[in-house]
Amino acid sequence: MNDIANRKNQLDMAAYWMPFTANRQFKADPRLLVAASGMFYRTDDGREVLDGTAGLWCVNAGHGRPEIAAAVGPQLLALDYAPSFQMGHPLAFDFATALAKIAPAGLDRIFFTNSGSESVDTALKIALAYHRACGQGQRTRLIGREKGYHGVGFGGISVGGLVNNRRAFLTLPGADHLRHTLDPERNALSRGQPAHGAERADDLERLIALHGAETIAAVIVEPVVGSAGVLPPPVGYLERLRALCTRHGILLIFDEVITGFGRLGAPFAAQYFGVTPDLMTTAKGLTNGAFPMGAVFASRGVHDALVQGPENAIELFHGYTYSGHPAACAAGLATLEIYAREGLLTRAAELAPTWEAAIHALRDCPHVIDIRNLGLMGAVELAPRPDAPGARGYEVMVAALKAGLLVRFTGDTLAFSPPLIINEAQIERLAATLRSVLADLK
Ligand SMILES: Cc1ncc(COP(=O)(O)O)c(C=O)c1O
Repeated sequence: MNDIANRKNQLDMAAYWMPFTANRQFKADPRLLVAASGMFYRTDDGREVLDGTAGLWCVNAGHGRPEIAAAVGPQLLALDYAPSFQMGHPLAFDFATALAKIAPAGLDRIFFTNSGSESVDTALKIALAYHRACGQGQRTRLIGREKGYHGVGFGGISVGGLVNNRRAFLTLPGADHLRHTLDPERNALSRGQPAHGAERADDLERLIALHGAETIAAVIVEPVVGSAGVLPPPVGYLERLRALCTRHGILLIFDEVITGFGRLGAPFAAQYFGVTPDLMTTAKGLTNGAFPMGAVFASRGVHDALVQGPENAIELFHGYTYSGHPAACAAGLATLEIYAREGLLTRAAELAPTWEAAIHALRDCPHVIDIRNLGLMGAVELAPRPDAPGARGYEVMVAALKAGLLVRFTGDTLAFSPPLIINEAQIERLAATLRSVLADLK
């Protein structure tokens, strides 16, 4: 660590093309993290930073867990890699079995990937293959939602609804979108799920009328929108979407890359809301962010429709070199043990009232126009500066980091998703730091 810290001024930053980053702005004034433990990061200049974002919504059990390191290191020495096409290794089966035990009812067939983006593209491909296997190969349309974020693969950006992630690229023909559910006029400053907007699920009826239900393969939504600024679903919205999909033979996919693994106080959002999709995409908290990995959970119905026919035939022509990587599985199994031992998959339910009270107490801070929360997710939305939309969000992130708090921002919305090990004093500290940063914001 000291080595890295001492090298700060000598780091050659030209070669590393950073993702989703203003590269030139960053490299002119870099923000470097060099260590992490529990709820805190440490910066290159030795300052402690409270992690308000679980890294990137992924370090649910907190940083530097020795149990995960102890599982991964020996695994790399015992079996560093095994091919997963027509070969197997025990940990992949063990991990899938352990995941099936915490999965929403019936979603117990698990396909491994290496990221959220790959999980999304995998789920979309499974949906297409499923309909073909059922003799409905004409069902090729994929429906996402405005403001949705489903990673950066071509499938994910096609069903995604964030214009900056789409405009420079090709998107799949046949993708269409429901309207988003953000409705500040009726729902601003709602605590938990907003009361208004369930009827926006009926947009699916409009798309069915436009395209024909028999052409639609799947609808994909984040049960709680994450990247676009934490939008809990209106009361009744997901139930309505589920009913419409079922009625019209359309598969429902929940993208649980953020909401999975305890973020809302249940293992998955599907259980929290009592709405079960046909496919569920995950990543991030799957390995506590310690190892790149994703997983798609499929219903028996979807799985069994595909896994049939001659026994010597490959049923799904899809997979990754690193699907079910032994070290990732070791990290994942160790992560699940931590979650179970420390009750982390339900801890957000206990902390949610404290969390809700703490972030809604910020409503009197300058520039705040909306606050949203569910489980251990939260967002504080600031009024954009008229001449510079997005500037306030960035400025808060920079100032908060200096004040010892890691904040994520999208435009002028600040998003929070602390590790699920956070305690009440740390919640108060997070809110107090933010209050003081907002007080100084122009
Ligand atoms: C809902 C959702 N889906 C997919 C992804 C993409 O995951 P990854 O960055 O691991 O590809 C993300 C990442 O934030 C996400 O929030």
